[in-house]
Amino acid sequence: MDFETLAKKRASIRRYSNKKPNIEILIKLIEIANSAPSPGNLPIIKYLIVQDKERISKISEACNQNFIADAPYLIIICSESKNIEVMYDKRAKKYVKQHVGAAIENMLLYITELGLASCWIGAYSDLIIKNLLRIPEHIEIEAILPIAYQLKIDKTIQKKKPSISKRIYFENWGNPFLKPFKRFDT
Ligand SMILES: Cc1cc2nc3c(=O)[nH]c(=O)nc-3n(C[C@H](O)[C@H](O)[C@H](O)COP(=O)(O)O)c2cc1C
Repeated sequence: MDFETLAKKRASIRRYSNKKPNIEILIKLIEIANSAPSPGNLPIIKYLIVQDKERISKISEACNQNFIADAPYLIIICSESKNIEVMYDKRAKKYVKQHVGAAIENMLLYITELGLASCWIGAYSDLIIKNLLRIPEHIEIEAILPIAYQLKIDKTIQKKKPSISKRIYFENWGNPFLKPFKRFDT
């Protein structure tokens, strides 16, 4: 799949079949996430794989989102920012978020490429999940990704995106961007 098609095909899929992906696929996904740029090339993200049905069901409750319980795997994306704070001080928080976002998008695109399904989950009770999975207090849960196959009858496609037409400025903030041929031909 060419990159443009892939980026536009990626969608938040919330209906899963009970077919279980091969566990080796998860390592491939994590390798792709790990190839994202990271500040100082530091190892910031930890990946916690959950496949126990009962635990997945409890996590689904902690997210208050029932569809998560149907996923055969969850990858809990966590960050540890101790070292990065030493290096980047006040910028560290922003850097961690940006790195995590890049890693997650890498993973979502590869999930799409492999014909799998997922949805970026950002709403959950940190406390309940941390207790359940014994995640230490200083670790941040950044997101949860269900890893599954899309239910055959589900036809979800990517949501129509907000227009960019009024969000591109030229040279100065607020200056509308006119296409170069318009700008230079007139
Ligand atoms: C930071 C973040 C948090 C999100 N949290 C949730 C969530 O908790 N549950 C959910 O169903 N979707 C969640 N989403 C997915 C968005 O709802 C989805 O990306 C958006 O509606 C656009 O749809 P699309 O991904 O198909 O383009 C989240 C997305 C992001 C980037």
